[in-house]
Amino acid sequence: MSRPVLIAHATGDEEFAQLLAAPIAAAGYDVVHGGTVLVGESVVEVVSHALAAGAPVVLCGTIRAMGTGWAWRTVMAARGLHPQVRIYGVAVEQDVYLSPLTLDGEVTEYWRDPAGALGAVVAALLRHYPPSLEPGPGPAALPAGRREAAEQRFRDLLLRSCDIIDLANLPADRRLVTQELTLRSLFLPLNVRVESEAGPDPERFLEAIEQRRVTGGRALPAGESGDPEPPGARLRESRRLVVLGDPGSGKTTLLRWMATAYLLRLRRDPSWGLLPGVATLPDEDLLPVLVRCRDLGAAQVDGAFDDVLRHVLRRAELTADEIEAMRAGLAERLEAGTVLLLIDGLDEIGDPGARARFCQLLERIHLTRPLVPIVVTSRIVGYREMGRRIGRGFEHLTIAELDGPAKDDFLRRWCAVTEPPDRRQGAADELITDIHRTDRIERLTGNPMLLTTLALVKRSIGRLPDHRADLYAAAVKVLLSWRAEVDAPISPREAEPQLQYLAYAMSDGGVQQLTEDEVLDLLERMRIEYRQLRAIGQHDPADFVRLLEQRTGILVETGHVRRAGDLIPLIEFRHLTFQEYLTAQALVQGYFPGRDQAEDLAVHIGRLTARVDAGTDAADTWQEAIRLCVTLCHSDDVDRVLRAVLGAHPLLAARCLLDEPDAGPDVVAAILGALAAALPGDDATVAVMFALARTAWAADLVEHMVGELRSRGPGRCRRWAP
Ligand SMILES: Nc1ncnc2c1ncn2[C@@H]1O[C@H](COP(=O)(O)OP(=O)(O)OP(=O)(O)O)[C@@H](O)[C@H]1O
Ligand SMILES: [Mg+2]
Repeated sequence: MSRPVLIAHATGDEEFAQLLAAPIAAAGYDVVHGGTVLVGESVVEVVSHALAAGAPVVLCGTIRAMGTGWAWRTVMAARGLHPQVRIYGVAVEQDVYLSPLTLDGEVTEYWRDPAGALGAVVAALLRHYPPSLEPGPGPAALPAGRREAAEQRFRDLLLRSCDIIDLANLPADRRLVTQELTLRSLFLPLNVRVESEAGPDPERFLEAIEQRRVTGGRALPAGESGDPEPPGARLRESRRLVVLGDPGSGKTTLLRWMATAYLLRLRRDPSWGLLPGVATLPDEDLLPVLVRCRDLGAAQVDGAFDDVLRHVLRRAELTADEIEAMRAGLAERLEAGTVLLLIDGLDEIGDPGARARFCQLLERIHLTRPLVPIVVTSRIVGYREMGRRIGRGFEHLTIAELDGPAKDDFLRRWCAVTEPPDRRQGAADELITDIHRTDRIERLTGNPMLLTTLALVKRSIGRLPDHRADLYAAAVKVLLSWRAEVDAPISPREAEPQLQYLAYAMSDGGVQQLTEDEVLDLLERMRIEYRQLRAIGQHDPADFVRLLEQRTGILVETGHVRRAGDLIPLIEFRHLTFQEYLTAQALVQGYFPGRDQAEDLAVHIGRLTARVDAGTDAADTWQEAIRLCVTLCHSDDVDRVLRAVLGAHPLLAARCLLDEPDAGPDVVAAILGALAAALPGDDATVAVMFALARTAWAADLVEHMVGELRSRGPGRCRRWAP
C-alpha cells in the first residue's frame, strides 16, 4: 500500500496539480488532488480521508490558491488533525508568499526552476515519509495516522515533563515552588571530559576518575581525561556515551535538555534554536526516548528491550491502543536509527548485580540496533560498584565542573526568571560577586545543584562570604535529603554528629583522607563515647559510610593504599569546605574524639589556636574552622572565644571579625587595638585592615589607628603642614 500525498490547490489549478503530481506518483506515492477524484466521489471526503491518514501536503502555490482560501483551509485542516504534518510549498507563480503556511520554510520555486523544484519536493518526501505503508503484519500495519497521533501524544507528554528545572529537594521558597521554571530559560550548557580507558581493570579506571574529582584544595593527579567539550559534540562523534558524575552534577538535566532539544526540533518549534548549546547536537531528527532507571522493575531490568519500551510508554500515560501504535512506529525508527535512547541513572537500580545485567541489555541493544545513538548516565560510585564497564564502543565521559563564566551566565538567567525587573541586574551582580569572593564558595559551586542551592538561599542568608556557614549548612542539608524519591533520606540526627566527628578527627590529624578502617574505628569509638545519641546507632559504621557515599556524595572513596598485601579504600570529604564546616560544627556541638566535657569551648579554641599557622587562612583548615566556629557558636560564647583566639593569634581574631559575628564592643575594641598596635604591620596585617574597613567596624578601626599613631608621640609621625 502506498502512502497518500495530498496536493492542495485552488479550483481551476488542476493542470498545475497534475504537473506536480507526476513525479511524486512516479516516486511511489498515492497522490490525491482535485483532478484525481473519481466521478461520484466527493472532493471533501477524499481529502479528509487522506488528511486523517496523516498524508503530507504539497501546496500548489498560485496567486489564485492563496487568494481563494481553499489552500489555506486544507493546510489548516491537515494541521488540526496532525500538528506535525509537513507542508511542502511549491511556488508555481512568482510573488506568492507561502512561508507562513509551511512553517518549516520548505518552499521550492517552480516558476524559476520547474525540474529542480519538483526534484527537491520528491527528495524531501522520501526523506520524511517512506512511500510504502506495507511493512508487514502486526502493529506496523496500523494506519500511519494512528501511529503518528500516538507518537505526537508521547512527544507532547515527554516535552512537558522534560522542559522544567526540577527544584524538588532543594531549599526553594514557596514563591518559586509554585512558579514553573522552564529548562529552556535556565539550562546551563555543561561540558564533559572524555576519560581514557587505559587497562582492562574497571576499578582502577573509575578510581582514577574519583581521584581527579576530589580536589580537596590539592593539585589534581596528572590528567588522563581530555579537555572539556560539549556533550553534543561527543554524541555526534561517538554515538554511544556513558556520562558519569557526582550527585547533582547535572546528569538528569543533561538528558532532559537533549530530549527537549530534539522534541522542539521535531515539531519545528522556533524556540529550538534558542535552547542553550543546541547547535552542538547531531543535526538529525531524532525521537528521544527517556528511560528512568529508578522506574524499572525486575521484569524490565532482566527482560528484553521491548519490555523496557512498553514500560516507558505505559509510564508516559499512553493508552493501550496508543502504546501498540507507538511501538510499531518505534520499531521502524529503531531500525532506521532515528531514536535517541536516553538511559538515566543506572546507579538507581538498587542491586549492583541487576545493574550489571541491565548493562548487558544495553550492549545487546547496541548490537541489534547499531544505528541508534544511546546516552547512559550514572553516579560514579554506583558504576564502580558493578565491577564492570559498558563495552561495545560506549565512550566514557565525566561532567566537568562549572567554570566562572558558566556560573555567571546561570546566575544572570536565574535572576532574569526569579527576580522582578527592577531587582534583576542588582541581584545578579551581587550573586556573581559573592561566588567569586572566596575560593571555598567557588569550589562548592562548581556543582550545578549546589550553585542552584546558593541562588535559592542567597536571599535568606544575606551577605556572602561573611555568612558562608549558613550556605554550607544548606548545602549539607540538601545533600542529605537529595533524591528522596529513590532513597530514604539519611536523617540529619544520624548523619551530622558522625560527619562532624570524622571531620574533626581529620582536621586534628592534619589530613584530608583516612583509610576505611580508620573511619570505621572512629565511628565505633563514637558509638562508645556518645552512647546517649541513639540516632547514630541506626546503621552499623560500614553501612553508614556506604549509604553516605551512595546517597549524598558528601564522603567519597578516592583510592586505595596497599597494606600487608591488601588494598584498603581511602575516604575523604568531597569538598574540603565540608570538612572545615563540619569541624567547626563539631566544636560547637561538642562531637569530637576524646572530648573533655569539663572543658569550655573558649578554652578548647584557645588550645587549638596555638596550633594554627601564622600565615594566611586560605590554606589552613584550622583557621577557617575557627572562623566558622565563631559565627556558629551561641552568642553567649562569642566574646570568650574571641578573647581566647586573641590571646594566641591576634591576626586570626581580627580575621574572625571579618565574618561579622555577634561580638560585644569590648572584645572588638581589644582586637582592633591589637591590630592597630601592629602598625605599620606586614602584608597580612594590612590586608585584614583593608578588609575590616569594609565592615560595620570601619569607624572603630579608624579610631583605633588614629589613637595608636597619636600614642606613639609626635616624633613617630610627620607633622601635617597646612
Ligand atoms: N545544566 C544545568 N542547568 C541548570 N541547572 C542545572 C543543570 N544541571 C543541574 N541543574 C540543577 O541541579 C539540580 C540537580 O541536577 P540533576 O538532577 O541533573 O543532577 P544528577 O547529576 O542527575 O544527580 P543524581 O546523581 O542525584 O541523579 C537540578 O534539579 C537543577 O536544579
Ligand atoms: Mg539524576
